[in-house]
Amino acid sequence: MKRVLSGIKPSGELNIGGFGGALQPFLTIQQEYECFFFVPDLHAVTVKQDPKELYQRSKDIAAFYIAAGIDPKKCTIFIQSQVPAHAELGWLMETQTHFGELGRMTQYKEKSEGKDSVSAALFTYPALMAADILLYQATHVPVGDDQKQHLELTRDLAQRFNNRYGSTFVVPEPIIQSLGSRIMGLDDPSKKMSKSNPNRNSCVHLLDSPDEIRKKFAKAVTDSEGSVRLDWETKPAVSNLMEIYAVFSGDSIAAIERRYEGQGYGSFKKDLAEAAAERLIPIQERYREIVDSAELIAILKDGALKASEAANATLLRAKQAMGFVTF
Ligand code: AMP
Ligand code: TRP
Repeated sequence: MKRVLSGIKPSGELNIGGFGGALQPFLTIQQEYECFFFVPDLHAVTVKQDPKELYQRSKDIAAFYIAAGIDPKKCTIFIQSQVPAHAELGWLMETQTHFGELGRMTQYKEKSEGKDSVSAALFTYPALMAADILLYQATHVPVGDDQKQHLELTRDLAQRFNNRYGSTFVVPEPIIQSLGSRIMGLDDPSKKMSKSNPNRNSCVHLLDSPDEIRKKFAKAVTDSEGSVRLDWETKPAVSNLMEIYAVFSGDSIAAIERRYEGQGYGSFKKDLAEAAAERLIPIQERYREIVDSAELIAILKDGALKASEAANATLLRAKQAMGFVTF
């Protein structure tokens, strides 16, 4: 049985980076795999969160899953903190993780750089991520490119645990799409489009109005060559916009190059904004219908029950394998 576990942190306003790298891939993946999609709220609190915002954003991510087209009848959708097994296996995985391994994580280095102090949880968080995945015996994990290193650590930890205590965990494979797994900032194509960037023009948010979407793409940096051509080495800004276009339109890069041959960036950017708005507006409408609904609460309650059942079974096996007293 092929099984998937993945999630998007409720740590900021969801943008088209998370859409291309995670949400959109989830939609096709649900056809083929048994899926668990969760809201990793315990991960969000590795950095300071305003309680009201965390509450709203956790519901937002769950609502976006459903609004984008994840089918709650087929998939289990839940909030991480409602399944205590995550925190418990997270601790057990920390005991299997080397200090040096965590110190090599580039996301930790980036997030701690220049800060006077960071939480201990920001450092140990990859062990919790491994627990998230291993609890569900996930065979596959769809993520954006920035999570590759965490997935490699998860695989190492699963193998290490299995070698020490006997076969307990499935060793998961990442699924990283060729298109959309690394969407860069609209203001600076050398930096990942990020929820934590304070410059609102660097990303298109999933709740932006068509007008905002148009303005942001119109302002997006390009280059002086004036040709719509994919070349990440010499034309990173335009290449990034082409990838975003491909994500929203479903067109191939070759088709986009052909369509805009001999034209500047004007109509390309306008059409890109239209393609993005066309895809996002129906998602926004559905999001508004469900975000504060009893339907969403019911889905999340049911999801937490189903997830707990799967997670508790694995947690028990892991604890027994390690020698904990269980009854
Ligand atoms: P996060 O919002 O950091 O929890 O990320 C949720 C998912 O979206 C993860 O699989 C990330 O790898 C992916 N992701 C986040 N930002 C981007 C981006 N700029 N481009 C592509 N994927 C992204
Ligand atoms: N670490 C991921 C991110 O920052 C979020 C996450 C937490 C996750 N646990 C996970 C993703 C398990 C996939 C599987 O984007």
